[in-house]
Amino acid sequence: MHHFSYKNGEYHCENVPLAQIAEDVGTPFYCYSHATLLRHFTVFDEAFSEIEHIVCFAVKANSNLAVLSLLGKAGGGADIVSGGELFRALSAGISPDKIVYAGVGKTREEIRQALNVGVMMFNVESSQELLTIDAVSAQVGVKARVALRVNPNVDAKTHPYISTGLKENKFGIGFDTAIEEYRLAAGLKNVEVVGIHKHIGSQITQVAPFVDALEKTLGLVAQLKDDGIPIRYIDMGGGLGITYKDETPPQPKELAEQIAPMLKGTGCCVVFEPGRVIAGNSGALVTRVLYTKTNDAKSFIIVDAAMNDMARPSLYGSYQGIVPVNESALGYKKVSADVVGPICETGDFLAKDRVLPAFKQGELLSVMSAGAYGFTMSSNYNSRCRVPEILVNGDRYDVVRERETYEDLVRGESIPDYLS
Ligand code: LLP
Repeated sequence: MHHFSYKNGEYHCENVPLAQIAEDVGTPFYCYSHATLLRHFTVFDEAFSEIEHIVCFAVKANSNLAVLSLLGKAGGGADIVSGGELFRALSAGISPDKIVYAGVGKTREEIRQALNVGVMMFNVESSQELLTIDAVSAQVGVKARVALRVNPNVDAKTHPYISTGLKENKFGIGFDTAIEEYRLAAGLKNVEVVGIHKHIGSQITQVAPFVDALEKTLGLVAQLKDDGIPIRYIDMGGGLGITYKDETPPQPKELAEQIAPMLKGTGCCVVFEPGRVIAGNSGALVTRVLYTKTNDAKSFIIVDAAMNDMARPSLYGSYQGIVPVNESALGYKKVSADVVGPICETGDFLAKDRVLPAFKQGELLSVMSAGAYGFTMSSNYNSRCRVPEILVNGDRYDVVRERETYEDLVRGESIPDYLS
């Protein structure tokens, strides 16, 4: 469910017409709905009310400070994967004791920063990382709380690029060696073993992979207990999918019905790291038609947003819904067209062979399900300025990140004196 809809013939985010924002700030822009973000967070959080838990939003999905701040105010923590994400989470007012830190390649400096502020726990992905955390903790003079990220070898049945729980993926520690790694961790002086972590992939549309991975994880938790290594936190990772087109992923409540009873008896606090399910359908990318053309048999709608603004279609072949901002366009005759951007690459498209109204030059389109992995994956490719982010709340909207300028594009660059 989201708060984008037609009112009086115009597509709105909550009570604000997208055309109004386009007139004020120009196009393209990302637009997020406060009500949708809050609703998704609350629905997820309440689904697990029966068990002790914390929802740590995956910052990589949408790292805008306003978004993090609103989720933090709603009681959320943060799942981070870099020093930059730590900085963002703290800047948004999220308390360090609600921050979990994952990622296969944490640097010593990043580890030091996280230790200095006292994050809730590190999700450790290799023994070398474990030893490094131990060494840095000794220097800093603190004990690091750690969970080991285990790889349960479960097929999440999702796109190969976002599947993480298989043996051949780079993530986590193999199940077979996990006990040994835990023993190593338990013997380290500057590390306190507190948890276990798993994350099997993203855009998962079935409950079964979560249940399978949890079953395996709970087996390990029981073994660890017998081994004298009690676990306080079970981190379930993220991964719950959303509807982009016609997928029917489980609702958080349906997931909870299956896994909460399994978790209840453990006495552990359960950490969740949802990203997409909170932010995905809370956002849209609004773009304007620059030109339309038909080459031989093929029609193109050329818009002012491109693969640098939204990488998902080019990178994963993702489907993003496309909605006319002016409702009357729904009555136009239909064409099958590629919606493409101005970038000089054939891979620059937002939709391929899509049946759409025959849009006219200057019209606005809303590219849907863009609130997660949209802006955060954007770049300056082709020296294009990154677009603004807008947060709508009821009747008001705020520019929560300004459009970049040409000066921003060259900030930090210089020409050596022998060239000037
Ligand atoms: N926790 C960990 C350790 C993760 O690696 C991820 C996502 C999440 C949580 C959040 O997963 P979510 O609930 O959003 O599925 N760029 C891709 C998605 C990459 C996901 C990477 N990890 C896309 O646009 O589909």
